[in-house]
Amino acid sequence: MPVTAFEFDEKYQYQNGFDCYFESSGVTGALPLGQNSPQKPPLGLYAEKLSGTAFTAPRHENKQTWLYRILPSCSHPPFAPVAAPNESLGIGGEALKKMHYIPNQLRWDPFDHDPHADFVSGLHMVAGAGDATLKQGCAMYIYAAGRSMDDRTAFYSADGDLLLVPQEGVLDIRTELGWLLVRPMEICVIPRGVRYQVHLPTGPARGYALELFQGHFVLPELGPIGSNGLANARDFQAPVASFDDGPDAFGQTASDGPKEYTITVKFNNALFQTTQRHTPFDVVAWHGTYYPFKYDLGRFNTIGTISYDHPDPSIFTVLSAPSDHAGTSIADFVVFPPRWLVGEDTFRPPWFHRNTMSEFMGLIRGGYDAKKGGKGGFVPGGASLHNVMSGHGPDAESYEGARNAELKPQKVGDGSCAFMFESCLMVGVTDWGLRTCQKVQEKYSEHSWGELKVHWKGGKE
Ligand SMILES: [Fe+2]
Repeated sequence: MPVTAFEFDEKYQYQNGFDCYFESSGVTGALPLGQNSPQKPPLGLYAEKLSGTAFTAPRHENKQTWLYRILPSCSHPPFAPVAAPNESLGIGGEALKKMHYIPNQLRWDPFDHDPHADFVSGLHMVAGAGDATLKQGCAMYIYAAGRSMDDRTAFYSADGDLLLVPQEGVLDIRTELGWLLVRPMEICVIPRGVRYQVHLPTGPARGYALELFQGHFVLPELGPIGSNGLANARDFQAPVASFDDGPDAFGQTASDGPKEYTITVKFNNALFQTTQRHTPFDVVAWHGTYYPFKYDLGRFNTIGTISYDHPDPSIFTVLSAPSDHAGTSIADFVVFPPRWLVGEDTFRPPWFHRNTMSEFMGLIRGGYDAKKGGKGGFVPGGASLHNVMSGHGPDAESYEGARNAELKPQKVGDGSCAFMFESCLMVGVTDWGLRTCQKVQEKYSEHSWGELKVHWKGGKE
């Protein structure tokens, strides 16, 4: 079921749709009529273009947005490396160059909360592949934040679009283009370059993130499913313009001197900062196709078999980041929501498999039907990684249970939601993911599959 509304909802208005052209104005008359960059934009605003694709990208891929703001974003002193680097991104952004490539199945206990970190210092790369400088590949992260970002800070990534999957705690995200409230069981995507600030209205927050160094998320093709199903376009929500022109926003009126705003950028996985005397959240109006958005996973229209066997897990794809090869994704975001299983004479959990893709899984809440046993288990806030051709499947306890289960219509996953970042790339694991976080379950494989029984009886039933 969809995430239920609560008190924060009144603060937000959204524009509904996926990959749409949207326009939003915080005051009447801020959007120029009939052109993008008039000699004098309305209301004394500056026009600034934010491009998410090459200007010349085909129309169906083109993502550009015009911002009408009080001061342009270029108005700041030079960036410098941050004084206290986030070491989990690698000093100097070298996390991706120092990966550990491991054929073993990996599973992590729930990652620690960090009461001292904000969203930026609490962002830890766990795994990834490719190179942000070449705009190739992707990376998987855990975030754990115990405090809101300061009101006079903003963060952006030059490395890619960031998909956030909250697992605990609400994220109240102020972006240049407006506010997004993102709760567990909702996801959001913050595009490359968009500046934002993360507040924690309900306390500590923890979750997962996937950054695309290349391309953008699209909805998967539906093929014979038809024109509706899986994640429906109308359920995606983009923010409306919201800006700050308060007394401190431009440093003119403060009695104790101009207020400074700190902008942090992740640039090739290293953090740089600058300070400026004006708020980055001064976009009065915008229009275009490049913007942050969110989606309620409870609205996912889950589709499965009504005869026998079950489809490949690609049937659960919410968003897809295509590679240049049709049908092959740099990353798919896939969920395993509550659903009815009715397949006759069918082994209902996921089968044993080895894939050419790598699978990074997390659990937002509840349990996962293929992982009932195993010391430590697969529990909310933890993760697993089954890399290219690393065999896996239900653990011994789950297998025996499913093999002997009475098959009747059965609801699985009530109150639960697992998800997967599936990539066509072989992903490496960072030092933080393998060692520093100290959450790797040492005997995951042995505990899961070490006691699988032999059912073979010499060729006889
Ligand atoms: Fe798998």
